[in-house]
Amino acid sequence: MKTQVGIIGGGPSGLLLSQLLHVNGIDSVILERQSRDYVLGRIRAGVLEHGFARLMREAQCGERMDREGQIHEGFEISDNGALLHVNLKELTGGNTVIVYGQTEVTRDLYEARDRMGGVIIHDASDVKPHGILTETPYLTYRKGSEILRVDCDFIVGADGFHGVSRKSVPGEALREFERVYPFGWLGMLSRTEPVSPELIYAKHERGFALCSLRSQVLSRYYIQVPLSDTVDGWSDEAFWGELKRRLPAEIAAKLITGPSIEKSIAPLRSYVAEPMRYGNLFLAGDAAHIVPPTGARGLNSAGSDIYYLFNGLRDYYRNDDDRGLEAYSERALARVWKAQRFSWWMTSLLHTFPDSEPYAKRLQDTEMSHLFSSRNALASLAENYVGLEY
Ligand code: APR
Ligand code: PHB
Repeated sequence: MKTQVGIIGGGPSGLLLSQLLHVNGIDSVILERQSRDYVLGRIRAGVLEHGFARLMREAQCGERMDREGQIHEGFEISDNGALLHVNLKELTGGNTVIVYGQTEVTRDLYEARDRMGGVIIHDASDVKPHGILTETPYLTYRKGSEILRVDCDFIVGADGFHGVSRKSVPGEALREFERVYPFGWLGMLSRTEPVSPELIYAKHERGFALCSLRSQVLSRYYIQVPLSDTVDGWSDEAFWGELKRRLPAEIAAKLITGPSIEKSIAPLRSYVAEPMRYGNLFLAGDAAHIVPPTGARGLNSAGSDIYYLFNGLRDYYRNDDDRGLEAYSERALARVWKAQRFSWWMTSLLHTFPDSEPYAKRLQDTEMSHLFSSRNALASLAENYVGLEY
């Protein structure tokens, strides 16, 4: 098989890129290790910044997002029970975010790829990039007992944090930056009416909590837990009890509880690999960087990579201009690091750090009281939350 862009990974990054390329007359093939049902079964965050929403529309996949997604003009921060409203719209001169689950984004992208005859090969195992440093790179994969080959001009590694792409770059050509946080998030999805129409990020001495939602009848809640905890160790009752303890009393009193549909624990980690290009292999999304979920930057950060990469590829094919591709790594990383900074800042602000020294704890409290008293501090938070310009 031959194509222009060979994409490893059929998550949101690979799908969005493939769709944007198609709309601009550029051919691509996606190799995905898992089945479609498996990919669509993963529950991830659900806040889209306006730049990501714009890309979805440009990729001709924005219709359902615009119809069913909820525009959020603000959210709440609770500090040991005291509530602060962050009015995103007012603080940013009109910007908002869209609450629309990543699973739905992925579903819409698959649907569009199907509609436009896109090639997505599922259950492709042993995917390997070859000839990365040549003008004729190619991919191989196994389907059953057969080894198949895809020739292409460029390879895009959009295969997430545990993918094969980043591992194909020799160690001496890659610099890695990492921070692992000493706790995780226990998330629960329940078919209950959300406690609040807006998200609530709660700092509490017992640990962080988040009230989020997917729709008027579907709630998503999280609590900070030690990494040694297990899902089995948390009954639904224990989860609801702990969540209530960390929320302001008036919110806790309104909380509607019910059986969980899904419960999982995710560790929190920040990671960046530099550069994001090696020869004719371009890394994008989680393959190159991940953030803790606190500021909802993960998917949005992947979106900015796709923006730069797509523009670079379009200029290359349309105008024989490779400047965008040459600048890809540097441009993408500049924005990636801003998302890293913001996610680290929000994580540091809101969580309870075990063994935090008294000085660090005072600073954390002061950061919060500054936020409660300074419009400029709030405006900076809002600017980052709605997403910086590409
Ligand atoms: N070969 C083929 N496909 C692979 C391989 C491999 N060796 N390894 C992983 N994949 C697939 C995974 O099965 C997955 O479907 O690549 C896809 C990567 O998708 P994601 O992990 O969702 O990453 P990405 O598409 O970059 O999405 C952006 O940012 O913070 C996150 O939650 C956010 O998942 C979202 C991500
Ligand atoms: C979610 O709805 O899953 C969600 C929302 C906001 C975050 C993280 C996760 O910061």
